[in-house]
Formats: sequence, C-alpha cells, structure tokens
Amino acid sequence: MKNSAIVFDELVQDRRAVRVFETLGSFDKDVVKRSLERAVLSPNSSNMQLWEFVQVTSPSLKEKMAAACLGQNAAKTASELVVVLVRRDLWKKRCEQVVAQQVAAFKAETDGVLTDKHKRLLKYWEVGIPILHKSGFGCLNILKRITAFFQGFKKATPRQVTSQDMRLSAHRSAAIAAQTFMMSITAEGYDSCPMEGFDSQRVSQILNLPSKAEIAMIIAVGKGSPKGVYGPRLRLPFEEVYRVV
Ligand SMILES: Cc1cc2nc3c(=O)[nH]c(=O)nc-3n(C[C@H](O)[C@H](O)[C@H](O)COP(=O)(O)O)c2cc1C
Repeated sequence: MKNSAIVFDELVQDRRAVRVFETLGSFDKDVVKRSLERAVLSPNSSNMQLWEFVQVTSPSLKEKMAAACLGQNAAKTASELVVVLVRRDLWKKRCEQVVAQQVAAFKAETDGVLTDKHKRLLKYWEVGIPILHKSGFGCLNILKRITAFFQGFKKATPRQVTSQDMRLSAHRSAAIAAQTFMMSITAEGYDSCPMEGFDSQRVSQILNLPSKAEIAMIIAVGKGSPKGVYGPRLRLPFEEVYRVV
C-alpha cells in the first residue's frame, strides 16, 4: 500500500460525527476557508459548481443558528458553522462562466483558434445543459421524459433529465464537496458534524439567503471534546452492502 493510502486510511478512521466541541482554547481561523478551497476541487456534475458555502463565525449569528439547528449540541458548541448551499437558480450564470473558462482554456491550447472538436465540446454547455435545466413550467420536463422513454428503446439514454433530476444532481455534488471539506477538517486536526436536522426557513432568514438557495447540509466545526463521540462507530457488515460482479 502506498504511504498516501495509509495516511488517507488514518484520516477516514479518525473522522467521526462529533457532537460536542471544546468551547475554550484556540481555533485556527484559517482552517475552514482553507478546507473550503479544497472542497471546491471536488468532482461535480458537468463542472457547473452549483454550490455556495457560508462560513458562520459571528457569535451572535452562531447562537441564532444553533437554535435553528434544533438546539443540537454540535451546533451549540461549534467554533464555526458552514452552510452548504445548492444554487440551482444560478445555473445560467454558472454555465456562462464555465463556457468562458473552457473557451479560454481551449484557445490557450491552440493559439487562439477554436477547433471543430472544441466547438462540439462547447455545445454540451451551450445546448445540452440549458435543455436539462429548463422546466418550461413542467411541460418541458414531460417532453424530456417522453423523449428519453422512446429513445431508450433504440440506444442507451440518460433517463434523469428533468429539472427535478438536476436538483438532485446538484445536491449530490454539494454532498461530495461537503465530504471533501470534512476530510480536510480531519486532516487539519479538527472535527466536524454534518447536520440535516435544522429549520431551513429559520436558517434562511438568519443568513438572509436568496429565496431559491437550498440548504444541502450544515457542518459544525471545532476541536472535538472527548465526550463528543457518542459511541463506537457502527456499520452494517460490509458483505451486506457490497457485491462484486
Ligand atoms: C446528510 C447527513 C446528515 C446528518 N445529520 C445529522 C444531524 O442532524 N445531527 C447529528 O448529530 N448527526 C447527523 N449526521 C451524522 C450521522 O448521524 C453520522 O455520520 C452517522 O451516525 C455515522 O457516524 P460517524 O460519522 O461517526 O461514522 C448526519 C450525517 C449526514 C451524512
């Protein structure tokens, strides 16, 4: 096994959902931002990066947030909270940004000329992504489903094509980024607790979030207290969740 795999294994074994953090003692203020800079390098659907991260450091906001997180100890004792948002509402803007970056990267490869292959690749974001994200008040969703159904008789076809499927996809990508963030927090010598137990409406009001922003998860961060791990790590037998074919 490579050294990096041994280190990675240690981090995976170390990371636990920690429900109580030390409220006294120092907290490295750079750790969260540094870990979020790593989180945005996570794989994400079509590189659309339909996520946003709000780092909550203000004591008064943290107090309000702890109440909105149903008074959970993890939120009450955290040094900081990170709110992982899904911003599917920004798909058009993000798509334009991705295209602009991609065009610049292609041009850098070929002395400023876009080849036919580049133009074909760009069509994915210029044509494909808008089709996937538009719902046309539901009508387009139905049309996309029907098209996929009939096309599926002839060839392998993506079936998850509605705007609701895109919502799920954006949450999937945000969750992967959340995990990268938590692994980074472990690597930095701190602890975390992912939470979906919160009142989304209250959180949205406290942080003045855009109405269409969805909260994927809230992550409490801090130095774990010895009483912060509530029990041994329990998992189903591996054989029950694994098969090789
Ligand atoms: C999406 C998600 C939501 C979670 N929400 C909460 C929560 O609201 N409160 C909490 O104490 N733990 C929460 N957890 C932590 C899980 O309970 C925990 O990861 C699980 O019991 C396994 O324990 P381990 O992470 O220590 O291995 C959440 C975990 C995930 C992935």
